[in-house]
Amino acid sequence: MPMMVKKILITGVSSGIGYAVCQKLLKKGIQVIGVCRRATSSFSHKNYYPYNIDLSQPIKIDEKFKTIIKTHRDIDSILSNAGVAMFGNLEQHSSDQIIENININLLSHILVIKNLLPTLKQQKTTTKIIVIGSYAGLQGGRQGGIYCSAKFALQGLVESLQIDCASSNIKISIINPAIIKGTNFYDDTYFEPADDILNSVDMDDVINSIMLCLDAKNGSVFAKINISVLKKSLKFKK
Ligand SMILES: NC(=O)c1ccc[n+]([C@@H]2O[C@H](COP(=O)([O-])OP(=O)(O)OC[C@H]3O[C@@H](n4cnc5c(N)ncnc54)[C@H](OP(=O)(O)O)[C@@H]3O)[C@@H](O)[C@H]2O)c1
Repeated sequence: MPMMVKKILITGVSSGIGYAVCQKLLKKGIQVIGVCRRATSSFSHKNYYPYNIDLSQPIKIDEKFKTIIKTHRDIDSILSNAGVAMFGNLEQHSSDQIIENININLLSHILVIKNLLPTLKQQKTTTKIIVIGSYAGLQGGRQGGIYCSAKFALQGLVESLQIDCASSNIKISIINPAIIKGTNFYDDTYFEPADDILNSVDMDDVINSIMLCLDAKNGSVFAKINISVLKKSLKFKK
């Protein structure tokens, strides 16, 4: 059966979760608008429309999204996914680093969705928004003060929008994965998942949960999907 989504905007499309979902959707003939800093250089495809936008600069988001909406009035779904790691004791981070991290991990999700809501509300079919949260948005953790703050706040954003947007036929989901291997997320952190695969969430399961949300039938909404991990060992980098 064909998927219910036809044109989706994905943030953070150049690597990790965003890239993997984008490739899967393109294979199914779905059009993808890709947003991140390296959207144009990542790959090309006839159904892929890339926009290079630095989402850590909130002041520019409204203007950039006006251009996207002008060209793509038929967007019917959003995967709000872009995000970066930040772990350490609170006082270790400069205020500028904290602001930049909150901008990308929280504010950009709010502004991207805000900019696209009028377009989604105009569609004749049911539309979808999926936000990538994290297990760190459900439970505070060691040296996670900033990252957890943003991911906790996303839960509140989604729960509120689920109430506000139901009458506009917009289904909103948040997916909270624990630690995943095979993304660039841990490139600049002092730890990563331990080598044994039982210590990380499988990327296929994250992708499948996104597909489930995108394909929810009739009145079904996968409101919150939490993907925990069996074992919790980490590998510390030297
Ligand atoms: N990996 C995990 O263990 C894990 C677990 C739970 C939740 N998550 C969440 O999953 C989401 C995706 O992360 P990932 O694991 O797939 O990591 P990733 O491979 O590092 O992907 C992050 C994506 O976000 C984009 N991005 C980063 N900073 C940006 C900025 N300033 N402006 C625009 N785009 C930006 C990157 O693109 P550019 O560099 O091209 O801008 C990239 O496409 C994040 O929200 C993360 O918090 C990850």
